Amino acid sequence: PQPGPVTAPVMGWNSWNRFGCNIDENLIKATADAMVSTGLKASGYTYVNIDDCWMASTRDAQGRLRPDPVRFPGGIAAIADYVHARGLKLGIYSSAGTATCQGLPASLDHETVDAQTWASWGIDLLKYDNCNNQGRPAAQRYKAMGDALKATGRHIVYSICNWGDDAPWEFAPNVGGSLWRTTGDINDSWGSVTSLLDQQAGLETFARKGYYNDPDMLEVGNGGLTQDENVAHFSLWSLLSSPLLLGNDLRSVSATTLGVLRNADVIAVNQDWGGSQGRRVADNGDTEVWAKPMSDGSVATVLFNRGGSATTVSTSTAALGLGGSSSYTTKNLWTGATGTTSGTLSASVPSHGVAMFRVTRAGTLAAPPAAGTLQVSDLP
Ligand code: GLA
Repeated sequence: PQPGPVTAPVMGWNSWNRFGCNIDENLIKATADAMVSTGLKASGYTYVNIDDCWMASTRDAQGRLRPDPVRFPGGIAAIADYVHARGLKLGIYSSAGTATCQGLPASLDHETVDAQTWASWGIDLLKYDNCNNQGRPAAQRYKAMGDALKATGRHIVYSICNWGDDAPWEFAPNVGGSLWRTTGDINDSWGSVTSLLDQQAGLETFARKGYYNDPDMLEVGNGGLTQDENVAHFSLWSLLSSPLLLGNDLRSVSATTLGVLRNADVIAVNQDWGGSQGRRVADNGDTEVWAKPMSDGSVATVLFNRGGSATTVSTSTAALGLGGSSSYTTKNLWTGATGTTSGTLSASVPSHGVAMFRVTRAGTLAAPPAAGTLQVSDLP
């Protein structure tokens, strides 16, 4: 595939998990404001994505989608202006079918006019769903919209929501998709989080820089998960190089939840690309070890405890794919504690929780350039 429009997993917010169809322009604007005031924008969250139910129940006389006149009386272009004025981007939603999953007008056989409409409004991302698809081949339906988006000349990130039904990891990059849902929908429960996680195993070979598996949007802060479960969900999704799309109410987000969502060390693991997304490297029943290589040669790891009580989870630098040194430095990405090891890594991990580390060979760290020796070629 050609280089796509994203270079790292998309970060932002989407209306669906918390609000469903209960959305309007005030919510979207207030969410954009909150993204800035909470510091989430400074942490890298950029996209404000309107999901299903933004559209009126009929097209206009020219055959164009139009916003629901009650929910979005000011129109979508005005919201795009509002969001852009805050340095953020606006995403929208449709389905590669005759109707959305909520039965509203969708884009199958209207790809060109709809893509043109969104481009004219200033849309930056499209989530394209799979409901009411009339049994037509997915690769064709998703290619038609990918071509229509490209023809607008506007950079619109293309998020393919085919639920993993038609091996989207195979066709998505070829039709312009930057991310593709691998599963059905998440819900705000621990059972859902672990079930979605289990469905990711084996898909790690399909992700590459700019093209990402999407295990669905975050439920962190929505109330159905304990704090340890929220931390586990965020850590594992970050390690999987998942898009980080917040699904909670940002207008009333707690300091505790922000502490999870704004962890810069964990976000850095998500955004970095060292040749592979995270994968499970050990499965010991209730405990597992997951690892992702980092571009600086270090490895990020999640020690995961699915069990009902706290337990010690251990791994080794060799199991993490690190070797060639007698000494390694470790950083616990949730406590900030640093340490050293000659090869083993262990932590006490709470029930339904994780410990997350970044492990670096101590002997082979690149020395920083001496003062005065920085070359132009060293700059990013
Ligand atoms: C499908 C998608 C969800 C959401 C809803 C909206 O279920 O998978 O993420 O977009 O449709 O109706």
